[in-house]
Amino acid sequence: MKVLVSGGTGYIGSHTVVELLKSGHEVIIFDNLYNSKIETLDKIKAITGKDVKFYKADMLCPEEMEPIFKENSIDCVIHFAGLKAVGESVQKPLKYYENNITGTLNLVKLMNQYGVKRIIFSSSATVYGDPAFIPITEECPKGVCTNPYGWTKHMLEQILSDLYVADKDWSVVLLRYFNPIGADESGLIGESPNGIPNNLMPYIMQVAIGKLPELGVFGNDYDTPDGTGVRDYIHVTDLAKGHLCAVDKVMNTEGVNIYNLGTGTGYSVLDIVHAFEKANDVTIPYSIKPRRAGDIATCYADPSKALKELGWKAEYDLERMCKDSWRFAKMTLANE
Ligand code: NAD
Ligand code: UFG
Repeated sequence: MKVLVSGGTGYIGSHTVVELLKSGHEVIIFDNLYNSKIETLDKIKAITGKDVKFYKADMLCPEEMEPIFKENSIDCVIHFAGLKAVGESVQKPLKYYENNITGTLNLVKLMNQYGVKRIIFSSSATVYGDPAFIPITEECPKGVCTNPYGWTKHMLEQILSDLYVADKDWSVVLLRYFNPIGADESGLIGESPNGIPNNLMPYIMQVAIGKLPELGVFGNDYDTPDGTGVRDYIHVTDLAKGHLCAVDKVMNTEGVNIYNLGTGTGYSVLDIVHAFEKANDVTIPYSIKPRRAGDIATCYADPSKALKELGWKAEYDLERMCKDSWRFAKMTLANE
């Protein structure tokens, strides 16, 4: 298949491009490089031995995206591009609504115009809000999001679903990711956020390489086994492979199909700290801090629908996630 990957130089996008290339798909990436680097293309080539066609294009500028559709006969789009910093979205809601929603509208308008009616969208477990039940199935009602970033996912799921209501030629797959961590086993690509990280594993990696002194654990009084927040951490390569199955699905069905991509296992913040220490023989100093606004106690998936309908399930365990994160931190983050 000829797959257009928006946001393909970003964290999840780059890992998905690697898996697409390894499985023989032809890949075109577009990204505005707001939160990623052009060097990622060389790293993808080093890992796969294959070239990717790249367009530097911003979703907010349709005239930058249009040549992609004019010059290529695209089978489907995997849509990763978007802003994702939860805290920043509270401070700058318009920036988030404009980039993520207007940007996606521009993309799907062009897709419609060029008859490309197959899209896989990066949604998030954040759409469940404080989930009505655990483990979370796709039938769990969508909840109240606690930030504009979450609302963009919530609204974009609706917008993309409405495309199919109006035009039965559309096929839409909504993938609700849980918490991706880890890195490609090469250590060449991984998550490298700008500034001080917000998410747990990127923060732990900065502490491990000595760039930050200690981890703050946000609350130890939740109703969880050790009092710290529980999440469903999934290896980014497993997540990437889920997209390969989604490509088959989106090409061979119509309608709107929704899948949780998680492992089905929840780990607490302290489980992650101790697993990282054990897997890599390092010490992660930490101290308990107040709860972070908007956090929930527990969030993990029931991923059985993805197994049943996509034939996909996560394979890598927590030790592997921690080892691969550490390899990337030493090889790449430490030199940035
Ligand atoms: P990322 O920031 O690493 O990648 C997103 C890419 O989109 C970046 O390369 C960025 O430059 C690009 N981009 C942003 N705005 C753009 C625009 N207007 N035009 C063109 N390119 C643009 O993020 P990621 O972690 O790889 O996430 C990918 C997708 O998955 C995002 O939509 C994110 O919201 C979603 N998601 C991520 C997580 C997570 O924990 N990482 C969880 C759930 C969902
Ligand atoms: N945490 C800390 N200290 C830190 C960072 C995080 O204790 O420095 C804790 C949090 O309180 C939470 C857990 O670690 O209990 C995970 O926090 P993350 O920020 O890594 O992840 P979240 O579950 O809050 O959110 C992430 C993404 C969202 C996405 C969601 C579900 O940031 O975009 O997973 O997929 F929506």
